[in-house]
Amino acid sequence: MKSIQSNIKKAKKFLDKNQCVAIPTETVYGLAGNAYSDIAVKKIFRLKKRPMNNPLIVHYCNINKLGEDCHINESFLKLYNKFCPGPITFILKLKKKSKISKFVNNKQKSLAVRFPRHPVIRKLLRNLNYPLAAPSANISTRLSSVKASDVNDEFGSKIKYVLNGGKSQIGVESTIINLITQPTILRFGGLDSSKIERVLKKKVLIKNDPKNKTAPGQFPIHYSPGIPLRINIKKPKNDEAFVLIRKRKNSYKNYYYLSKKGDLKQSAKNLFSLLRKIKKDGYKMIAVEKIPNKGIGKTINDRLTRASKFNLIN
Ligand code: TXA
Ligand code: MG
Repeated sequence: MKSIQSNIKKAKKFLDKNQCVAIPTETVYGLAGNAYSDIAVKKIFRLKKRPMNNPLIVHYCNINKLGEDCHINESFLKLYNKFCPGPITFILKLKKKSKISKFVNNKQKSLAVRFPRHPVIRKLLRNLNYPLAAPSANISTRLSSVKASDVNDEFGSKIKYVLNGGKSQIGVESTIINLITQPTILRFGGLDSSKIERVLKKKVLIKNDPKNKTAPGQFPIHYSPGIPLRINIKKPKNDEAFVLIRKRKNSYKNYYYLSKKGDLKQSAKNLFSLLRKIKKDGYKMIAVEKIPNKGIGKTINDRLTRASKFNLIN
């Protein structure tokens, strides 16, 4: 307990000096900096090798100071009261007087905001007098990090400090919903869109299509382990790692399991670390069996489809 306290203090020290720090969240680890500081925000883009026109999510502890930065609407309040803190990101209208660095959102009039649930990041946010801009802690287009050691794999000594919060419980990024327009899902994520529809009492639009250009940064090639990956495969090639959703009686050395019994939540939690492990084990190609396209399975399929686009550019 005491060490968590002192680690949080250490993270705050770096952040107060406009340095970037990796932070744990319940979805994936983030690469965080002071969202009010141009210097800190520019560092995030540089470290991540991220194009400056791909905006960042800003993380708050709670709604208290949100009104200084964004216009709050009724749909937001309904969803906030039901799901926050939790794995959902809202696109809201930015206020003119907001102190958010213009580099966070490429001078757009909208802002992505999120209230993470992980107790360590919540405690850190309570100790800061600014919100944190944080993209996922990975080099652009690569696999997200779900453990402190993944962040080290991605960035090595380039990051000043990694605040360790154990393995991310959800394992895939937050669901993004645009609430400026008619509620529209821009990215499938840790929160099922059907739950959102139940709270809003209406259908939401889905614009998660990799070809869709209206969601900046939803680039088709993403979440890649850095080797070719094929999806919906019944029979792998001899030299491929084969990813399956439930354990099989007849197992082989190249079989990797997302869960014991086909549980989709468990599979989402294990997805990125399993792909990372396969690469470390020396495989040059990955085949993945068909994943049921329901609940968080839709998010898994979204990530795998984008990862499979690696084949097209290499
Ligand atoms: O779970 C998560 O959301 C993690 C953790 C660290 O919070 N963060 C995360 O950030 O996934 P990132 O940067 O890897 O993905 C954010 C996505 C990008 O695709 C970006 O284009 C989109 O959010 N985004 C950010 N601001 C936006 C805006 N104003 N309008 C539309 N999309 C936006
Ligand atoms: Mg990301």
